[in-house]
Amino acid sequence: MCGIIGYIGNKNSIPTLIKGLERLEYRGYDSAGICTIQNQRLKNLKVKGRISGLKKNLEFKNLEGNIGIAQTRWATHGAPSKINAHPHLDCKGEIAIVHNGIIENYQALKDILEKEGHKIVSATDSEIIAHLIEKFYQGDLERAVMRALKLLEGAFGLAIIHAKEPKIVVVRKGSPLIIGKGSNEMFVASDAAALLDQTRKVVYLQDNELATVTANSFSVKNLDGKEIEKEIEEIKWTAGQIEKKGYKHFMLKEIFEQPQALENTLRGRIKEKKIKLSLNLDPNSIKRIVLIACGTSWHACLVGKYIIEKLTKIPVEVDYASEFRYRNPLVASQDLLITISQSGETADTLGALKEAELKRAKTLGIVNVVGSTVSREVDSGIFLHAGPEIGVASTKAFTCQLTALTLLALYFQQEKGISPDKEILEELKNISKKIQLILKEADKIKAVAEGFTENKNFLYLGRGINFPVALEGALKLKEISYIHAEGYPAAEMKHGPIALIDKDMPVVFVATRDQTYNKILSNIEEVKARKGRIITVISKEDSKIEELSDFIIKIPETNELLSPILNVVPLQLLAYYIADLKNIDPDRPRNLAKSVTVE
Ligand code: F6R
Repeated sequence: MCGIIGYIGNKNSIPTLIKGLERLEYRGYDSAGICTIQNQRLKNLKVKGRISGLKKNLEFKNLEGNIGIAQTRWATHGAPSKINAHPHLDCKGEIAIVHNGIIENYQALKDILEKEGHKIVSATDSEIIAHLIEKFYQGDLERAVMRALKLLEGAFGLAIIHAKEPKIVVVRKGSPLIIGKGSNEMFVASDAAALLDQTRKVVYLQDNELATVTANSFSVKNLDGKEIEKEIEEIKWTAGQIEKKGYKHFMLKEIFEQPQALENTLRGRIKEKKIKLSLNLDPNSIKRIVLIACGTSWHACLVGKYIIEKLTKIPVEVDYASEFRYRNPLVASQDLLITISQSGETADTLGALKEAELKRAKTLGIVNVVGSTVSREVDSGIFLHAGPEIGVASTKAFTCQLTALTLLALYFQQEKGISPDKEILEELKNISKKIQLILKEADKIKAVAEGFTENKNFLYLGRGINFPVALEGALKLKEISYIHAEGYPAAEMKHGPIALIDKDMPVVFVATRDQTYNKILSNIEEVKARKGRIITVISKEDSKIEELSDFIIKIPETNELLSPILNVVPLQLLAYYIADLKNIDPDRPRNLAKSVTVE
């Protein structure tokens, strides 16, 4: 969603704010703005479009001030435009706010404020926050914010300044916020990525906490005004990790980082054929597992169901977080709820986690971002250690999630007194090298992509454990190339989608050798008979499918349970190259944001 950053110190805030915004641009990129305090007056500059546009703006040259807040926006209420861009100001132009999240009762508050004479100029839910604070302001910003908070419903991360007060007030309720500590300077941000060039020392705010930050200090309170002690923690990621390092896009870099990322997920977790995970739970007490997530992470859950059920015989259900949280789900204390989330901040996933906690289920998180909300809320967890994922379309997080799920299933086997599956243990040692072999074929996949830039539709078909890979391949294509794509279990094709097949319909089959091989072979024949254009992801040495296919992508042999980790890689590349050939920036696809912190 939106990214917010603030600076207070003895330097001009602009370079820090701009650098921070650039680091956050993956969270939203439809408009951007900066507000600083200059000689006890607010200077506010906003533009529609990217941060590069903000930098080019002529007024930008006159902007300075050693206190400032800034935001890069992903629209929820009100179209992308200069007027709807943040920061938003009150009527007197003395209070400025940047907001990440949604104010659910904004219409009711707007009606009240307008009746009281406030002039609200934008179509956003956010602007009313500045006016509400103005209503309560009597010379003390923190106090006015506290009073305003009592009326605001929804989810928010907020940073607020007042022209006459040398401080930034920040609040967290449902949307992440951290404070960065420098020397004689402090930072606030919605994401650690924004601070990596400035400091490694950070304080993570929890929900319903407010902090007042000056150049040399910070104090944190709960919403009743009670002071809270906070620990200063260290960010482990480096600024170098969030650079493109010669790749054209973050997405491509992250696809190519997968061998290393997987190694990092596995590091130290397999020793002498034993799985080392320090989890705060006893698998013998678990009667059922519920896997919940959104988007790509939900596809990882679907693969996880196959792996966990096969290796542990514990029944597994998979649910969309957004559906789970609102249907009064039947979960109880003998259930384990596993949430999977790259960011650890997805609003629906957090909502589902809270629901499970209320029902006293045990919880476990598989998360990439250390310090994220999911990682703090769950009873136990596994970090992916995939490194920062900046590209909006998830790639390396997905393959690392599958790796972590495999480790978890092997761990459950071990704790139930069964030796962890030897073949999988052995194969996990080779999996990174096999991804590398696929990546070496990237040019061949690019050549396949060249033939499909004009298509309007795609079908992706797979069976068994590779059905979720078909879903993921279709999601990658639609989100970054804007081509309509559907994933289906291959056998379901004849129950409907087969009607779509003709010479213009490309059909991607994930058809590496496994127990359903002969079945998927028949499905390929069915498409061939109807003249569909067939792209297949197949095992090496498969002349049968090769003959039926228009294009083939060959994958090294592996254990069936690990096959999704390999099979998804060419589909990521296919989507990437089609988008790039269509001149779409795959790092910033329209309407999408990296981390969906609103419902
Ligand atoms: C798709 C994608 C999204 C995310 C989803 C969940 O490429 O990235 O579908 O997977 O928004 O995000 P996390 O994993 O951060 O909870």
